[in-house]
Amino acid sequence: MQSQEVISREHDVLFQTYKRLPIVVDHASGVEIVDVDGNAYLDFLGGIAVNVLGYSHPKIISAIENQIRRYMHLSNYYYQEPQVQLAELLCSASGYERVFFCNSGSETVEGALKLARRIGHQKSKYDLVGFSGGFHGRTYAALSVMDKPLYKDGMGPFVAKTIALPFNDIDALESRIDESTAAVILEFIQGEGGLSEPTPEFVKRLFELRDEYDFVVIADEVQTGIGRTGSFFAFEKYGVRPDIVTVAKSVGGGLPLGAILTTHAHAGAMLRGQHGTTFGGNAVACVAGMVVVNEVLNGLMQHVLEIGRYLHASLSALAEQFPKQIREIRGRGCMQGAVMNSDASPYVNRLLDKKVIINSTSVNVIRLVPPYVITEENVDTFIRAFREVLLETEAQL
Ligand SMILES: Cc1ncc(COP(=O)(O)O)c(C=O)c1O
Repeated sequence: MQSQEVISREHDVLFQTYKRLPIVVDHASGVEIVDVDGNAYLDFLGGIAVNVLGYSHPKIISAIENQIRRYMHLSNYYYQEPQVQLAELLCSASGYERVFFCNSGSETVEGALKLARRIGHQKSKYDLVGFSGGFHGRTYAALSVMDKPLYKDGMGPFVAKTIALPFNDIDALESRIDESTAAVILEFIQGEGGLSEPTPEFVKRLFELRDEYDFVVIADEVQTGIGRTGSFFAFEKYGVRPDIVTVAKSVGGGLPLGAILTTHAHAGAMLRGQHGTTFGGNAVACVAGMVVVNEVLNGLMQHVLEIGRYLHASLSALAEQFPKQIREIRGRGCMQGAVMNSDASPYVNRLLDKKVIINSTSVNVIRLVPPYVITEENVDTFIRAFREVLLETEAQL
């Protein structure tokens, strides 16, 4: 098989840091990936929550083609219309006033935490606070506000004055937050942390403390942002207004792009020359991003809400049928999952045998982050395969 040959060459030349699926991709289109041996897979992982319009979307391809004929990379020494247009669109969609473009989710988090320190430093506020189960990326600042040993072992020392508090623990929040807090960063659905959500009481108390102690709240919407949960941002469900928001993944339409959103006043804390990146706001990524955001705002987010309800109902029916295996259904929109009663990886592998791609997080949680364009038929195909796997497993319990 052609794929075996590529897999063995990969082992000889690349860092072995990824647990890859045994698939060598030939091409991908819509919600389907086709491997070099001709197998077609239904993809409910979507490039890990990136390809929201599906693969090879004609509008994205055409926007990219038009842009590369004009220019690709210029650097931030120049004014570029695609950057300005995407920033304008993000601001009008979100109500934030300023945007900083970079290349990845980690880089948005790094920039947001640096911005928080800049905002706080005249008042001697330095502490950066994250939560257990949070995932913010692989740079040092991001790792410093995370708690998972796998990501941190043997990599210390980390950034000073950082901590990860227990998630959803109001007492811990109250005892650790004070005048020295510069920022609290959180996800409103923990993407890598098993799709856990903060409780409304926890969020309410966090924002009360913000008003009392004058720090900034950073919403890490790298995975949840730009409509994935059925609202433009996941935090909207809580009726709160974070000071800084980070988005990436979906915003580049499949190209590397991240954005930090904030107010005019906060953005002003970062002076000319204090922050920057060579590739940030690449014009080709920005025109692809324009297509994504326009589609999301022009009906796709409504579809996410509706298909999300359908997916939730279908998953809940399975949970009712297989209570020995499925403990709980979590998430909303195109970010949902099933908390299993055992390790989720055998389920992931068996679904792959049935040509359905998903993944697992937090050991026992099956995570679905499909493209927003999935249909009821796609959901039915996934549910049918999952039901077969559950039936096969039930027979062995
Ligand atoms: C919530 C969140 N923040 C940050 C990141 C890091 O993004 P990247 O992998 O693009 O650096 C991720 C990636 O999964 C994420 O889910």
